[in-house]
Amino acid sequence: MIVGAQWGDEGKGKIVDLLAQEADLVCRYQGGPNAGHTIIFGGETHKIRQIPTGILSGKTAVLGAGCVVDPEVLIAELDAYGDRGTFCLSGNAHLIMPWHLAIDQASERRLGKLQIGTTRRGIGPAYADKASRLGIRVQDLLDPKILRQKIEVALAEKNLWLERVYEAETFDLQEVAARYEQYAQRLRPYVADTSLLVDEALRAGKSVLFEGAQATLLDLDHGTYPFVTSSNPVASGAATGIGIGPNRLEEIIGVAKAYVTRVGEGPFPSEIASPQQEQLRELGGEFGTVTGRQRRCGWLDLVALRYAVRLNGFTSLALTKLDVLSAFAEIPVCVRYLLPDGTQTPHFPAHQSDFHHCRPVYETLEGWEQPLGEQLPPAARAYVEFVERELEVPVRLVGTGAERERVLARS
Ligand code: IMP
Repeated sequence: MIVGAQWGDEGKGKIVDLLAQEADLVCRYQGGPNAGHTIIFGGETHKIRQIPTGILSGKTAVLGAGCVVDPEVLIAELDAYGDRGTFCLSGNAHLIMPWHLAIDQASERRLGKLQIGTTRRGIGPAYADKASRLGIRVQDLLDPKILRQKIEVALAEKNLWLERVYEAETFDLQEVAARYEQYAQRLRPYVADTSLLVDEALRAGKSVLFEGAQATLLDLDHGTYPFVTSSNPVASGAATGIGIGPNRLEEIIGVAKAYVTRVGEGPFPSEIASPQQEQLRELGGEFGTVTGRQRRCGWLDLVALRYAVRLNGFTSLALTKLDVLSAFAEIPVCVRYLLPDGTQTPHFPAHQSDFHHCRPVYETLEGWEQPLGEQLPPAARAYVEFVERELEVPVRLVGTGAERERVLARS
């Protein structure tokens, strides 16, 4: 099980890709095309938003019930990568409909300065409809009559909202129904009972990899609400999102960057205030895969990571992009937060006001100022060991460059 330990973009795609080589199944359990996994190998860069990246390695790629699916994005990816592996889609996953995209955009526009900074892929509105029991599921694609009826019911309400609340364009029933019927014809062969499929694979002793999208601090329940996504990326989300018992998750690997980035709005205590932020962004290529937005950059935040360890029960960590820090003579690491009442804490604040107003307390570690190769220089090793000591979790993998091969295994 692989989970983002920070605010996303930790380089999970690369770690998933690496571990997928030894897996039989690779499953996504939450989120939708708001994810953007970049994988570089054989001199080519692949960006995948919807299908689990394991498809690139010829594996069985599974989208579980907890996911939301944009059929247009999915079909484009199936056209590009579908023949490399096998793909299965849960009938219980929810469909992103055109009005979800329209509402996501209109609602962000209306929020103005208070906007969340979503990826505008319709994620929040699709999950909101799922919770309101107004959603349209993948299995509705199996029957043209049911599909049309559900679109009609949803559209009767959505068009009112779009027109009267958001003053946005409405949708035509015939047009949407015809478009989704076309998608249905393409997607029907992939619909499967993915909970049973995963259970049977586990019983047969196969290796199953769960690929988290987004990340711990974007979790709807435990993240920095409201600046979060609308699903549960935390490890336990895999059990609900796939439909297996939580005791089936054996190894839980947290992926953390050696520093921190965040896209979108919301508090970020260790965000760098000096021009070093720009330097880190350029060195790390910190621009969004899906949206191209600049990512905000900060020093490693061990308070937030400690929280991620608690929420996920990481059995080990993968520390990515350590090479990006090679440029710095000194590297601050946030070890505690200074709260508004003057006290310091190693724990993530439970109250939003404390988190919004806390200040980072740094310990400054020595930089190594040389490229990273097969053997880490002593200062880089000390950096990794410091993280292990503070979090009491072993760092088993260290990312030292963009390519698939540039990952060091530590025992
Ligand atoms: P949404 O998931 O599009 O609703 O966006 C909600 C928040 O999650 C925004 O701050 C996004 O920038 C953030 N977010 C969503 N997906 C990702 C991701 O894959 N990486 C990083 N941030 C993400």
